[in-house]
Amino acid sequence: MPGRNALFIPGPTNMPHALRTAMDVPLEDQRAPDFPAFTLGLFRDIKQVFKTDTGQIFIFPGSGTGGWEAAITNTLSPGDKVLASVFGQFSHLWVDLCQRHGLEVEAVDVPWGEGVPVETYAERLAADKAHEIKAVLVCHNETATGVTSDVAAVRRALDALNHPALLMVDGVSSIASIDFRMEEWGVDLAVSGSQKGFMLPTGLAIVGASQKALEANKSAKCPRCFFDFGDMMRTNVDGFFPYTPATTLLRGLRASVDRLLAEGLDNVFARHHRIAAGVRKAVEAWGLELCAREPRWHSDTVSAICVPDGFDGNDVAKLAYLRYNLSLGLGLSKVAGKVFRIGHLGDLDDLMALQALAGAEMAMRDLGIPVELGSGVAAAQEHYRATARPVDLNAGIAAAM
Ligand SMILES: Cc1ncc(COP(=O)(O)O)c(C=O)c1O
Repeated sequence: MPGRNALFIPGPTNMPHALRTAMDVPLEDQRAPDFPAFTLGLFRDIKQVFKTDTGQIFIFPGSGTGGWEAAITNTLSPGDKVLASVFGQFSHLWVDLCQRHGLEVEAVDVPWGEGVPVETYAERLAADKAHEIKAVLVCHNETATGVTSDVAAVRRALDALNHPALLMVDGVSSIASIDFRMEEWGVDLAVSGSQKGFMLPTGLAIVGASQKALEANKSAKCPRCFFDFGDMMRTNVDGFFPYTPATTLLRGLRASVDRLLAEGLDNVFARHHRIAAGVRKAVEAWGLELCAREPRWHSDTVSAICVPDGFDGNDVAKLAYLRYNLSLGLGLSKVAGKVFRIGHLGDLDDLMALQALAGAEMAMRDLGIPVELGSGVAAAQEHYRATARPVDLNAGIAAAM
């Protein structure tokens, strides 16, 4: 097919050329004496992306789901109580994973479109005088509904009660794209994967663990082997791994971290916010609503857009793919058919976002959804123009000459 697939699912995301070429290397000897010179620097620098000084980063072959499993099994024991909330497919799946590991999960049901219920968490924690709750789970960015939650507020709730539970955060679709501060927010376990903000293929589960989490690891009884922090720590300290690492992906991760730090994390977050705001302007111009019920929950990495009654959001994604070679996210589980999603994270600029908006608009119109062609694109264009960085044309010409 001529042209190329426009990839606007919320992960995997678009891979920059520089990352692709960074991985176009011969396979290498993971026990070579100079391998640690590479890995130790990577372990050090990726901490900047998680914003932790005292924490430790583990890089497992795997995906975000493996990261969840690593966080849970390394710090908890079967029967331990965990406080969680379910407001989308990914917060649901993490709870399911906990239950399958024999944890006792107190899962607060929240309407899909809202985020972590901080007040309910505070009440449950206050009632837990015996400190039976060993961990509190937060899905920072619920990718199914496009909802971002307030991790810092959960930390404040824990601190206000002097509650010792571990704070575990799913940052799979937030870390490296939107503001995330492991150290400052007192996050004990931070879970991410390679295929979203890191702009790489799927294949790495990247987990940050605080010193408190590492302490908990010493007495945690959940069975684990592949994801064992202890095995990792014993070998990582010298720059090696307990089993064959995904060396090619590690080379890509090096390039990804370099790229993120060169752009500057604050600039990365601002770029995501600006692009997301343009998408939200388009949704408004279409006369449609986001699944995220309030602006405080608007995600800067993914928008779940409600289609009017009588239409199927999954048809929008299907038609966009088949007719226009545009990949949009499907509605998952409870919101299947009710929404379609635009992933706007990773390596993205204004014109790329406009491409997704144009295609979504066309697909909606083709299905009879009453949106005016060009309306969303125009609204986003206005936003991108109004917020574009200033350009000095004369300076540009002078520099070129
Ligand atoms: C918020 C969130 N958590 C966890 C996962 C699971 O990650 P993976 O599919 O990489 O296992 C995803 C996947 O999209 C996600 O969006």
